[in-house]
Amino acid sequence: MTPTTPCTIRAALPSDENAWRQLWRAYCEFYRVQMPEEVTSRTWNRILDPDSQVMCIVAEVDGQVYGFANCVVHENTWETQLVCYLEDLFVTPAARGRGLGTALLEWLRNAMRAEGWARLYWMTRADNAPARRLYDRFTQADGFVRYVIRQK
Ligand SMILES: CC(C)(COP(=O)(O)OP(=O)(O)OC[C@H]1O[C@@H](n2cnc3c(N)ncnc32)[C@H](O)[C@@H]1OP(=O)(O)O)[C@@H](O)C(=O)NCCC(=O)NCCS
Repeated sequence: MTPTTPCTIRAALPSDENAWRQLWRAYCEFYRVQMPEEVTSRTWNRILDPDSQVMCIVAEVDGQVYGFANCVVHENTWETQLVCYLEDLFVTPAARGRGLGTALLEWLRNAMRAEGWARLYWMTRADNAPARRLYDRFTQADGFVRYVIRQK
């Protein structure tokens, strides 16, 4: 892939399973999470299920997938329209800095307008500088802080 090779952003297909799983593994390593296979399989199956709220788009260059965005489109209490939560964004390290992350976010912003979602939103760690440099070009962080209670 040369720095100028154009990338295609498209919905994930069944044939992307191996590439998606490889990227997903690296993404989980980035977050130092041991993801159970049961969860990975369920997530992939929901991505492919048109009746699921989970969706995934991939960034492809020369027929190879280098990045993904996993999202959940869901109801909410603040708007009448659906909203889109970007849950996972990942570009393989060797392909970073070439605009794939930007292209994935731009695709989602266009989908928001086309689908009539009230908003597209996401979270990241406060100290994730590369991601925040990218995100700050789209919008400002709104200052909300996340609280989590876990079952175990
Ligand atoms: C955040 C992430 C998706 C960005 O993907 P990307 O394809 O590198 O994004 P872009 O190329 O569109 O833009 C990234 C920015 O980092 C810069 N950059 C350059 N080289 C880079 C490199 N080797 N690694 C990371 N960023 C780089 C880009 O130039 C750009 O900033 P700039 O235009 O202001 O200089 C990617 O770094 C990633 O997967 N990180 C690990 C997982 C993660 O943090 N995900 C987000 C969790 S919420």
